[in-house]
Amino acid sequence: MSENISKKAFLEIDGKRIELPVLTASDGSQSVDVSKLYDSHGITTFDPSLNSTSICQSAITYIDGDKGTLCYRGIPIEQFDRPRPNFIEVSYLLIFGTLPTRQELTDFRNRLTSHELLHEGLRRQFGDVPPKSPPMAILSAMFSQLACYHEKFLPLGDEELFVEAATRLISKARTIAAYAYRRSQGLPFTYPDPALLYCANFLHLMFSIPYQQYIIGEEIESAMNLVLILHADHEQNCSTTAVRTVGSAKANLFAACAAGVSALWGPLHGGANVEVMKMLEKIYSGGMTAEDCIAAAKDKTNPFKLFGFGHRVYKNYDPRAKILQAAAERVFAQLRTNDPLLDIARKLEELTLKDSYFIDRKLYPNVDFYSGILLRAIGIPTNMFTVIFALGRLPGWIAQWKELHDSPSQKIMRPRQIYTGGIQKNYVPIEKRG
Ligand code: ACO
Repeated sequence: MSENISKKAFLEIDGKRIELPVLTASDGSQSVDVSKLYDSHGITTFDPSLNSTSICQSAITYIDGDKGTLCYRGIPIEQFDRPRPNFIEVSYLLIFGTLPTRQELTDFRNRLTSHELLHEGLRRQFGDVPPKSPPMAILSAMFSQLACYHEKFLPLGDEELFVEAATRLISKARTIAAYAYRRSQGLPFTYPDPALLYCANFLHLMFSIPYQQYIIGEEIESAMNLVLILHADHEQNCSTTAVRTVGSAKANLFAACAAGVSALWGPLHGGANVEVMKMLEKIYSGGMTAEDCIAAAKDKTNPFKLFGFGHRVYKNYDPRAKILQAAAERVFAQLRTNDPLLDIARKLEELTLKDSYFIDRKLYPNVDFYSGILLRAIGIPTNMFTVIFALGRLPGWIAQWKELHDSPSQKIMRPRQIYTGGIQKNYVPIEKRG
């Protein structure tokens, strides 16, 4: 992004004309730079959900919401689908900015493998969490706790320490996620297998039991890779903004990513994939029809949302939804199975495409609409869907945290407010308050 010196924006207030610089992004879109507005003129801008606010300059991920395109480091997301998707290669690309050479990929993989075990102290803590604990709560808590066991890597400003922390986090997150699931099922913990690649190792950690190795089909491993890739980054979404906000206080990588997990958990964000599944299951079990579901979503007196639809940035198809739908169909064909929920999802989508409520508001399926169906085909239980999203998003959070810290101009994030409460009231002692 560069300042367009031939272009200025002007703000007129109380008869005063204020000149503001205009920044231009790679795609030509423009942003009025108000960063000095408060210091120079004591004026703030008001944008409570940050809908019209760019919070940073970033070269990681690009979205064209009108066209429905998504690129990682300039490469369209569709190019990561075939022939064999590779999540670790994409993670490297996002974090370090270029595709790895063979040697770099091998080194990165070796680092991940060497960090796959959890400290025994951390592993034992799984035994103390209540068995039915939400896996997202465990994931967030365990990310924070990595700081207790790997304190050496917390200092900022050293590239090697960063790589050590980042690879530990990516590798251990997989083990933590699988252990959260096994705890919820009362299953014994399986140790990671260093002979397996990242996604295969995750499936092994989830589904192998002592003395009975889970057999990982190639199509299932590819599907798992694809799911993680499609979730790997999505520019300044809610959880990434949480990571950047926490990181801007110079908090360590583990703490910042734990905040990301907490934000992602919400049903309006990553938690939507669980809500989609509940909705499809309710229709399948006869609790409501697809038409009832659409009517409820349109009813402004009903808080119900059509989960998996709508997006702050996409005003067209979310390209990830298209890829996931096709991948689900591919996996069912390969496994020679079907899932009635896929037919219900297709029907819901068809109904929305004919309905002016959805057409006028440009509400299309987002990443969460079809991801659950594919995850079910892989054998992932519903309570793990958002955890899988977090595993996928982790390299994106790490890349954004790194970009933030590499930027010399970055300051602590500290927004302003429009105060609407009373001013200069008097304290009333309790005995006089009635
Ligand atoms: N069902 C019904 N109506 C919807 C939906 C939906 N899923 N999404 C948006 N709308 C309506 C809103 O009610 C609003 O209607 P109005 O203009 O009559 O008031 C209009 O569409 C615009 O919606 P906003 O709420 O202003 O859109 P916003 O950008 O704030 O929210 C969000 C985006 C949170 C994703 C929203 O579309 C939503 O709640 N979707 C369902 C939850 C979901 O799928 N979240 C996952 C998003 S992807 C991700 O985070 C990974």
